[in-house]
Amino acid sequence: MRQSRRQTVARTAVPLTIPVALAALLAGSGTAVAATGGAPGAGDPYFPLSGNGGYHVEHYGLTLRYDTSTRHLDATAVLTARATQHLTRFDLDLKGLKVTGVSVGHTRAGFRRDGQELVVTPRRALHQGEQFRVTVTYQGTPKPVTDPDGSADGWIPTDDGAFVAGEPQGAMTWFPANSHPKDKSSYDITITVPQGRTAVSNGRLLSRRTAHGLTTFHWRQSEPMAAYLATATVGKFKVEQYTTRDGIRVYNAVDPREASAAAPVLKKLPSVLEWESKLFGPYPFRNAGSIVDKADVGYALETQSRPLYDSAPDLSTLVHENAHQWFGDSVSLTSWKDIWLNEGFATYAEWLYSEQHGGDSAQKTFDSLYARPASDGLWAFPPGNPGSGKNIFGTPVYARGAMTLHELRKAVGDPVFFRILRAWAGEHRGGHGTTAQFVRLAERESGKNLHPLFTSWLYTPGKPNSA
Ligand code: ARG
Ligand code: ZN
Repeated sequence: MRQSRRQTVARTAVPLTIPVALAALLAGSGTAVAATGGAPGAGDPYFPLSGNGGYHVEHYGLTLRYDTSTRHLDATAVLTARATQHLTRFDLDLKGLKVTGVSVGHTRAGFRRDGQELVVTPRRALHQGEQFRVTVTYQGTPKPVTDPDGSADGWIPTDDGAFVAGEPQGAMTWFPANSHPKDKSSYDITITVPQGRTAVSNGRLLSRRTAHGLTTFHWRQSEPMAAYLATATVGKFKVEQYTTRDGIRVYNAVDPREASAAAPVLKKLPSVLEWESKLFGPYPFRNAGSIVDKADVGYALETQSRPLYDSAPDLSTLVHENAHQWFGDSVSLTSWKDIWLNEGFATYAEWLYSEQHGGDSAQKTFDSLYARPASDGLWAFPPGNPGSGKNIFGTPVYARGAMTLHELRKAVGDPVFFRILRAWAGEHRGGHGTTAQFVRLAERESGKNLHPLFTSWLYTPGKPNSA
């Protein structure tokens, strides 16, 4: 809201030739260093208020205390950030909850709430390039948000704790964040829960201590992670820990009610990770695992280093969520519009797994989908341009996204295709990738003009022709 109003003012009242700072002065924002507030969003057309401008978060230190009986959360977030511009004010994303204090460095800062924006005004301006630390204390009963597609997202209470998933915008329901995948950070997440409950997060469990009927779990995710991939899932869990032949530490937490159904699938995790590493290149993280909860959510999420399932997953889902560790988690989106780079790739990993493990070939899976009539929902919109946040988890993104990769495979042949997948994961490891960059990489590796293929499969409405 504020953003669009401001844009309107700038567009109508001020000629384009007037510099931005001067324009802000004319628009009445006051002092000589005007127009240096960070933007309230990261510029994503589907989620305009997700993320923020003007700084990058290097590290989140989250200390949470969750009472599973009252569902009350008491928390402190310490963000280590770096200003990317002169900043007199900046935003964090936080929805619901009560903020009791904000400091920048050791000094109390001004703050106000405006929808999902927590607007922070430090006592003195931050200069471009300056590293700073923001401490936010907050508390209350976290509530999930409802996504444009109607699904619940964020901190979702369960009968024994909480299922915590944040794609695309749920991180802000439990911690103040620069909540857009453009911004990746390391995390320390410390969660205190009643004794007998387990709190599971990303990365490595550094310590677990019990005192006075409370247990504190300290988790560390040292490789860069987007906010939506953070979790702090709480419940009664059976825990299993081991190290794979490749030296990856595995931590599985399973709701006992799902344990017998989950066991045969979870047993395959090391072999799935090994198979995916052969195909996509080395597993991108030091830690792996699974969180199998019992929750009425309707989806699983590729929470970084440790996917989260709302019930015992089948093998395809395990393959899918772990494939996301390469595609989505290690190589992140810069815009939600490119979501097929996550979902199309993870779905194609399922097809490849089937093909190489005695099931249907990818060609057969492709053919049965391609047989659907032009009126089918599969062709409702092109996956490279889902149109809005409402469609980002729709069938075209997953299935037609995977079909796009299959068309690419047919066009360039297996050796080049698998080289493309490995090059993509390797060259963008720990960072970001866009659809345009993927197309360029595929053309580079194959020496072919692939624009017609990608234009037709990713961007053209209606059922495409198949080669
Ligand atoms: N990325 C998840 C998957 O692997 C889906 C998440 C859906 N989230 C949602 N809010 N609907 O398929
Ligand atoms: Zn997925």
